[in-house]
Amino acid sequence: MHRAIVTGGTRGIGLAIAKAIAGSGGHVMVTGRDHGQMDAAVQEIGATAGSDPSRVAGMAVDVRDRAGVTALVADTVARFGGLDVLVNNAGVGAFAEVAAMSDEDWARVIDTNLTGVFYCTRAAIPALKQAGSGWIINIASLSARNPFPGGAAYCSSKAALVAFTEALMQEVRFDGIRASVVLPGSVATEFSGGSTAVDWKLSPDDVAEAVMDLLRHPGRSLPSRVEIRPSQPRKR
Ligand SMILES: NC(=O)c1ccc[n+]([C@@H]2O[C@H](COP(=O)([O-])OP(=O)(O)OC[C@H]3O[C@@H](n4cnc5c(N)ncnc54)[C@H](OP(=O)(O)O)[C@@H]3O)[C@@H](O)[C@H]2O)c1
Repeated sequence: MHRAIVTGGTRGIGLAIAKAIAGSGGHVMVTGRDHGQMDAAVQEIGATAGSDPSRVAGMAVDVRDRAGVTALVADTVARFGGLDVLVNNAGVGAFAEVAAMSDEDWARVIDTNLTGVFYCTRAAIPALKQAGSGWIINIASLSARNPFPGGAAYCSSKAALVAFTEALMQEVRFDGIRASVVLPGSVATEFSGGSTAVDWKLSPDDVAEAVMDLLRHPGRSLPSRVEIRPSQPRKR
């Protein structure tokens, strides 16, 4: 039974991952910055079939806040008696050509999508080591491999996240921690002004299923990079 933190677990892909882990009988701590969305997510996750509401919690934490992230890990370990799984999912996009990109937007994307993952991971490693069989699953994007105009900040953050995960994987594997990066294509969420009602895109549940597949792998095996894309994308 997993004891997990899912960052950005209050909507979209993170919420679907949190519901899947809770629905399989696991403990889940979700984070996000918005208190109202977090409370609603905790209710929704607790009401998922197979979930035990006493095993679901939320904490409003910005992943860019080092102290907040340290408190998040400590609170989770105290509440659940340990930590086995960290899903670094929280992420933002800001899309503009480099010539027009503001310092603030550049920093927001890199600080959330890359430095936030670093803070969460570094804070969680001691507890994951102690658990003896931990997972760190980072949600990157296929845009890491397929950069596009206007996506310099976002695509760079996700490409760096892939490199971060693959270096990390080699550092922690002998401590019983498996690190894997998931690269989804387009997913129907509210990400960056998107809509949840686009039928050709992946569903957040599809990404959650890929994460659950990872968690089901026997200890000897490590799918370290997973790409998942819509089977029939919109034709250009
Ligand atoms: N949607 C896609 O097409 C797609 C494709 C590939 C990869 N991805 C990646 O998948 C991840 C989830 O995306 P999504 O589509 O589910 O987006 P979403 O619906 O916008 O959800 C993002 C989640 O992250 C949280 N978050 C954002 N900034 C945060 C911060 N600084 N600290 C803590 N939490 C923060 C949000 O809550 P608050 O706003 O309340 O903080 C929310 O819970 C992202 O890393 C994204 O880059 C998305």
